[in-house]
Amino acid sequence: MNLPKIHSITKKIFVALLGAFLVIFLLFHACANLCILRHDDGAWYSAFCHFMGTNLIVKVFEVVLLGAFLLHILLTLWLWVTNKLARPVGYHQASRTKTHQGSKLQVWTGVLILALLIVHFCDFYFVKLGFVDGKYMVETQELMSDEVNAMQQAAAQYGMTPEAFIEANEQQLEMYAEQIPAEQQAEIKAQLDKLRASLPAANLVAQAEQEGMFSEDHKWIKGINSETNEQLKQAGFELEPDFYNMTREKFHNPIMAILYLIFFVIVWFHMRHAFAALFQTLGLYNYKYGPAIEVLASIYAWFVCLCFAAVVLLVFFGL
Ligand code: HEM
Repeated sequence: MNLPKIHSITKKIFVALLGAFLVIFLLFHACANLCILRHDDGAWYSAFCHFMGTNLIVKVFEVVLLGAFLLHILLTLWLWVTNKLARPVGYHQASRTKTHQGSKLQVWTGVLILALLIVHFCDFYFVKLGFVDGKYMVETQELMSDEVNAMQQAAAQYGMTPEAFIEANEQQLEMYAEQIPAEQQAEIKAQLDKLRASLPAANLVAQAEQEGMFSEDHKWIKGINSETNEQLKQAGFELEPDFYNMTREKFHNPIMAILYLIFFVIVWFHMRHAFAALFQTLGLYNYKYGPAIEVLASIYAWFVCLCFAAVVLLVFFGL
């Protein structure tokens, strides 16, 4: 096989720097997830996700991050293949150094992380991209257009649902068509069409009131199912994934909770080794600083993985 020639130390340095970027992202991701543990009906976490989902700089960062993930994986596999091709038969005497053992595990923990990351993306990120269904939320203010407000008030006045109110008005218009000038008829029809277009929004507000779907501060309507999301999308509304409720629902399921805990154990192994290997690749690991780097790597990996695990465990136990 003819692979383009890039010196393996160059590839290693790239892998290490991309890895460092991902390790920093994980610290940020783990800390941000702790907001889920606040008993504030998701106010902080939803605000955070809203910012992450709408800010332009974050959107650019997301592309860079996913690119870094992909490049990190491709370069690692490339290094692994070139190493295998360079020496198809193993060494007679296996190296017993700690680093070497860790490196051998690194490719396999990396492959497992990739597999679990696909599960993780199907759970959350692909919902944002619209590839899979989830739960959604929308700012109440966005739904409450003048039409929705007017329709709600009028329908309530007659003790009707918004649908029944529109239908009754359409019937009246048909019944008295001969007595109403054509111009006025067209105007009323246009108004009724506008009201019909805002029906999904009005229905959702009514449903939210009945089923207590408002956030505590009434700012959001949450826990919207994919069918309603589809209807509102067609009516021109843009909903956001309700990651707070999705996370809480997900980790109440023992199988998902266990799967994610396994995920974090593998991430721990990968990150623990990656952190120390990064310094080694950059030539900063020596007898003087080596022990300190090892301790720092452990603290870092434990901190990040315990933050992730805390979310799963505390949500699972309903705390
Ligand atoms: C308790 C554990 C975790 C929870 C609750 C969680 C939750 C989430 C959520 C809700 C998103 C979508 C956020 C958005 O797009 O706005 C996301 C995205 C992502 N997660 Fe996680 N995550 C967890 C652990 C992990 C771990 C261990 C990794 C990596 C090894 C990881 C890597 C990613 C990546 C790469 C993205 C896509 C980039 C992004 O949207 O920022 N997550 N996660």
